[in-house]
Amino acid sequence: MKIISSITEMQEITADARQSGKRIAFVPTMGFLHEGHASLLREGRRRSDLLVLSIFVNPSQFGFGEDFERYPRDMERDSRIAAEAGVDVIFTPTATGMYPAGFQSWVNVEELTLPLCGASRPGHFRGVTTVVCKLFNIVNPHLALFGKKDFQQLAVIRRMAADLNMPVEIVGMPIIREADGLAMSSRNKYLSDADRKCALCLSRAIMAARSAFRGGELSAEIIMKSALAEIGREQGAVIDYVELRDSTTLAECDRVNGNTLLALALKIGSTRLIDNGVLGEDD
Ligand code: PAF
Repeated sequence: MKIISSITEMQEITADARQSGKRIAFVPTMGFLHEGHASLLREGRRRSDLLVLSIFVNPSQFGFGEDFERYPRDMERDSRIAAEAGVDVIFTPTATGMYPAGFQSWVNVEELTLPLCGASRPGHFRGVTTVVCKLFNIVNPHLALFGKKDFQQLAVIRRMAADLNMPVEIVGMPIIREADGLAMSSRNKYLSDADRKCALCLSRAIMAARSAFRGGELSAEIIMKSALAEIGREQGAVIDYVELRDSTTLAECDRVNGNTLLALALKIGSTRLIDNGVLGEDD
């Protein structure tokens, strides 16, 4: 397994691989890998001849006062997990390599980035789409894998790839949860024991909404009440948003169906966590 920071070297490796007819899979991450990332890597390994993982804590997707500085980093552990999953190349560009002096070109997906995390974190998705577009240009993969926990991010990246004719297949992968239901996230590291218990209300809210829907309920208002009741039981949970939206367009809805998404962002202590569940799916 190679670990490289040079953009040119990364471009040369994948250009050579393409020349020899190899299929390239790519998993972009900000590191501090967990089982969710490992599942993306294993699927990428299964589907490709060359598996590239990028680790880059992208400054442009963090807002003022967010956790860019303290975002957890552990290259040694990440390298171990990557090696176990069969990664061929870890690409670790530097911030000045990605955003050199004079940088001024941004990628912006419009409507899909307005609600949910786009509303709470202005500029966040512009940072995500710009860095993912740059990484796609550098790695030039045949397919790229993303987790469905960041449901809106996946929708936005799919839109960008389609709108800008990027020749890459975007693969969405199921959410990986701890045994008690908490969706895996690098930010779970911030949680105290009490926060960790409180954070279970995210997955419980999704379970409650799904169970109401499976029981035949189609009113968004009533499904929402069942989700909010789970959150209301936890004094330590502060709602950023809890919304029911169409899972493709992210439009609001009064009536739900199997494609309706329950999207949640809660502040648990000082940690902002998100979770997502499509009512007619399992994860
Ligand atoms: O999901 C993430 O870890 C990041 O948003 C991504 C896609 C790697 C872009 O920095």
